[in-house]
Amino acid sequence: MNNPVVERDVVASAAAGPAVLEAHGLSYAHAGVGTVFEGVSLSIRRREIVALLGSSGCGKSTLLRVLAGLAQPASGEVRFLGEPLAEPHPRSALVFQQASLLPWLKLADNVGFGLDFAHQPKAARAALQGRVAAAIEAVGLAGREAAWPAQLSGGMAQRAALARALAREPELLFADEPFSALDAITRAEMQALLVDVVHRWHSAVLLVTHDIDEAILVADRIVLMGGRPGHLVQAWAVDIPHPREDFPEAVTALRLSILGALRHAS
Ligand SMILES: Nc1ncnc2c1ncn2[C@@H]1O[C@H](COP(=O)(O)OP(=O)(O)O)[C@@H](O)[C@H]1O
Ligand SMILES: [Mg+2]
Repeated sequence: MNNPVVERDVVASAAAGPAVLEAHGLSYAHAGVGTVFEGVSLSIRRREIVALLGSSGCGKSTLLRVLAGLAQPASGEVRFLGEPLAEPHPRSALVFQQASLLPWLKLADNVGFGLDFAHQPKAARAALQGRVAAAIEAVGLAGREAAWPAQLSGGMAQRAALARALAREPELLFADEPFSALDAITRAEMQALLVDVVHRWHSAVLLVTHDIDEAILVADRIVLMGGRPGHLVQAWAVDIPHPREDFPEAVTALRLSILGALRHAS
């Protein structure tokens, strides 16, 4: 059993596979609030799960919005699959704390929402329907296709939101505190589900979280954000097999290392 390796550089190591996302020298300022973060460089490899960890208000959500193409940085550049990013990329998908399902659409139509069925030839429509069905099945909601959002529990709604993201077959899934509103048991189920489905879908993930244990249980790499203005403080490659609950000593060692860095960052 290897111990988690502590990386010195917060940018992904050069030895790894091709990057799905590369960001260099990012800064962002809100009018009136000033600089939210600066000097942020980060790359995410194909199929890699990166947790962006930091305390509330340190700028994680703002950074995620910039990396996803939802907001423009004051300086620096984001590249998605090698191309400069000016708006959300069709091969990316987003999941937020609230599932944001459309209440007037049944579950299957929510999952398929945005896939543009109307403008496709018949064969392509059938393929899209297959993608929707596979995504619903993967998140454990098969049989609930005709349910209305109001009939779903919080956990089921978040499963549907995850299925909606998977149906886009994303190269990169952006997830901003997706499980924070769930109870602890449902959250643990969803964390395991996330790891399982993104491995099956071959997607990379940027998971924003303030929960150290969530980051440790899910991520291949943890990037710690902190300071005012926010910046990336330290990163850890997490070399612990799944399910990580089976390796409590390695998990504890990593948690202590992160807690130590947090003390120095604040
Ligand atoms: N729309 C906005 N207008 C002005 N300030 C904002 C806005 N959104 C966030 N901020 C400020 O930017 C900082 C970072 O916020 P945020 O990215 O939401 O942090 P986190 O996600 O880490 O909790 C905070 O100080 C917050 O008050
Ligand atoms: Mg946030």
